[in-house]
Amino acid sequence: MKDIKIISKNCKGFAADKELKAVSKAIKLVHKELKDKSCPGNDYIGWVNLPSSIPNNLIEDLESTAKKIRKNCDVFVILGIGGSYLGAKACIEFLKPSFANELKSESPKVYFAGHNLSSDYLQDLFNVIKKKKVIINVISKSGTTTETAVVFRILKQYMEKIYGKNGAKDRIIATTDASAGALRKLAQTEGYKTFIIPDDVGGRFSVLTPVGLLPIAAAGINIRELLKGASDFEKKCDLLSLDKNPAYKYAGIRHILNKKGKVIEVLSSFHPSLRYIGEWWKQLFGESEGKDGKGIFPAACEFTTDLHSMGQMIQDGERNIFETFLIIEKSQSTIKVPRFKDNIDGLNYLAGKDLDYVNLKAYEATASAHYDGKVPNLSILIPKRTAFHLGQLFYFFEKTTAMSGLLLGVNPFNQPGVEAYKKKMFKLLGKPVT
Ligand code: PA5
Repeated sequence: MKDIKIISKNCKGFAADKELKAVSKAIKLVHKELKDKSCPGNDYIGWVNLPSSIPNNLIEDLESTAKKIRKNCDVFVILGIGGSYLGAKACIEFLKPSFANELKSESPKVYFAGHNLSSDYLQDLFNVIKKKKVIINVISKSGTTTETAVVFRILKQYMEKIYGKNGAKDRIIATTDASAGALRKLAQTEGYKTFIIPDDVGGRFSVLTPVGLLPIAAAGINIRELLKGASDFEKKCDLLSLDKNPAYKYAGIRHILNKKGKVIEVLSSFHPSLRYIGEWWKQLFGESEGKDGKGIFPAACEFTTDLHSMGQMIQDGERNIFETFLIIEKSQSTIKVPRFKDNIDGLNYLAGKDLDYVNLKAYEATASAHYDGKVPNLSILIPKRTAFHLGQLFYFFEKTTAMSGLLLGVNPFNQPGVEAYKKKMFKLLGKPVT
């Protein structure tokens, strides 16, 4: 099977071979620090060997729990925010049909909540789940995140009203820290089934722990395939050669471009199924790199849709952008453009062509036009929409993030900046000081 791969020809003139050679020395040092666990944030690098070290009995537990979920509910609701939701959401959106919840064949229907504080969103969810058999997976490493906790409190009350306290207990699964936090305490008190988030894996690096794996498996996706892809890339992204290790190559080029004033990276895709990969990627890079007054601002665009909006800014705005295209090489479907006798719309020149071919040409044209407009760009080619390739992609981005942050001189594994709004919000809400 083909691996995902990175193409950098449209960085010519922006990141020279000799610059890459220079940065590869720094990469070598960071590589060693990651290996001997002496880098900043070294107590949060458990994700590095996660794909190859996940115990088989945990996978079996996840699979059998997922099977029970699939059998015993019509609606599966996942509560979490940030790293406790984006990985699963990205994976499900990438691998499932675009309108999965509309399809009779898709069961259970999968919904996410606890990632916002909107009453309208929650009411809309209640309107969808009423009279349906519901199972909830509440996910929070700290166990104290306000958005998730407050929405869980409301849903817990709903579940207990519908199923009784005992019935609700069997329909709630908690994924949280092994011992700390309010969610662990609550789960123990109520007797919920629980899964553990390893101590040394932070939220945004946790998609390959039960945080991501349980919802993904419950959605009917093969988690062994996902882990296999990740495990392959655990090996590949451990190589020191920039030519053989796509994560180090990507990190090296990002670093050079950033030093030259490219302070915004746009992740551009041509498939709606990649939308939440973009959201997951934004969180991974944004929360990891953006600190100490440094970092590349991660933005995501969905083309060709956004070529009719953000395309203007990328082509013609301030030249502080570089771009990374996320390309699916082979779609699951083939849809051909029909030939019309009257050809009133003038599209007969496309007749017989696959829509994907038109999409591919749109990508080639965009990459070339943006390069001409002084937006250097990379492309990450994903052979197919499979769990295996997504596993590769998840690991590839995680390793790039770690390398990029460490090259920048920041601790990529903490997020001190997110505390500022929380402190002010708690004050405004009158949270008792403990
Ligand atoms: O990457 C991170 O650590 C964060 O984005 C967290 O995942 C997010 O804040 C949710 O935290 P928790 O799982 O503790 O509720």
